[in-house]
Amino acid sequence: MKNLQLPFDEAKIRKIAADYPTPFYLYDERAIRQNARRLLRAFGWNQGFREFFAVKATPNPHILKILREEGFGADCSSLAELVLSERVGITGDGIMFTSNDTPAKEYLRAKELGAIINLDDITHIDYLDKHCGGVPELLCFRYNPGPQRTGNVIIGNPAEAKYGLTREQLFQAYPLVRERGVRRFGLHTMVASNELDRGYFVETARMLFQLALELKDRLDIRLEFVNLGGGIGIPYRPEQTAVDLEALGREIHELYNAMIVPAGLDPLAIYMENGRMVTGPYGYLITTAIHQKNIYRYYIGVDACMANLMRPGMYGAYHHITVLGKENAPADHVCDVVGSLCENNDKFAIQRSLPKIDMGDLLVIHDAGAHGYAMGFQYNGKLRSAELLLKEDGGIQQIRRAETMDDYFATLDFTGVNR
Ligand SMILES: Cc1ncc(COP(=O)(O)O)c(C=O)c1O
Repeated sequence: MKNLQLPFDEAKIRKIAADYPTPFYLYDERAIRQNARRLLRAFGWNQGFREFFAVKATPNPHILKILREEGFGADCSSLAELVLSERVGITGDGIMFTSNDTPAKEYLRAKELGAIINLDDITHIDYLDKHCGGVPELLCFRYNPGPQRTGNVIIGNPAEAKYGLTREQLFQAYPLVRERGVRRFGLHTMVASNELDRGYFVETARMLFQLALELKDRLDIRLEFVNLGGGIGIPYRPEQTAVDLEALGREIHELYNAMIVPAGLDPLAIYMENGRMVTGPYGYLITTAIHQKNIYRYYIGVDACMANLMRPGMYGAYHHITVLGKENAPADHVCDVVGSLCENNDKFAIQRSLPKIDMGDLLVIHDAGAHGYAMGFQYNGKLRSAELLLKEDGGIQQIRRAETMDDYFATLDFTGVNR
């Protein structure tokens, strides 16, 4: 069952809201650190294990710095994410550059930083050669298993997904880059997102281990690492259960002992690039109830909207909601919790049973710590909120201020009409 316990109470949030008006994001540093350590411990048996945090999930340097201190690297997919990582001191092989449809200048920056470049297509070998002064000494390829695996709603069915090389292309790509001077090799895949079944990741490990064996046998290519991608899910719904990381580590260890060790391929480092499970459950969107209306349905209007958190509107995703101070009140009012966008899918909850909500009540939208703020936008002239950190000592640090009207106009080369 999901943990519904909050690391704060109503009084604490009212105090914070006096300085930082709602809506705002709040991240729990202690929980992020504990969870990071747990993941590393679960794979501690693998000497080279590394988690490259998917920067896109929570692209805030303060969060990245915490994760760097815990020993994580960064998985970047764009120039801005590379620069973010560099600014917090994650460089070199601490960066995995897993991008797609990548402009030359982004590859160039990744190369300059010494990042591990993960190519999304066989044609990108020539592209690197032509636009970026050749291939680096270490190169990784992203594998798309196509019909061999099933994906899910967020990432799509692998056979229909735009990412990665086919199996046949993989076996062409490694010898090709070896001829051009690549000496160190990695293999990556990412076939599911928000997956709660750990068996899925065990199967992914099996698939990559099998490829490692075949690449050695057929081409004498010895992989240095396999990257299982991200995608470990989190229990958004109260009845769901988090992935048992210790069991996952154990089961992949057994597979490693059965497949990799006897083939003489040990040590083979295991990498992951999770985002959601690293920060998702430890970030909250705090918002205030400002309107209610009773028409064909009963609505609660809040001061956050889909521009702050678009997962519900985009994927129909469930996010649990707690009404602060009413944690134990009966959930006997059915409502839609909505934002102010001129879009009818701007709803944080649809026909949800919640306690009676009074205007001014504070609502906590759970599990917003990954792919939350990051997906925000300015449609309808909505400004992005602040991000706050609940520090280990209980203090609050603003780690990103809220946007202002000046920010909104900053990119408009328009000084106004002279009257
Ligand atoms: C290539 C790649 N790696 C890692 C991630 C992180 O996924 P998650 O946050 O589900 O762990 C993503 C998500 O979009 C991705 O596209």
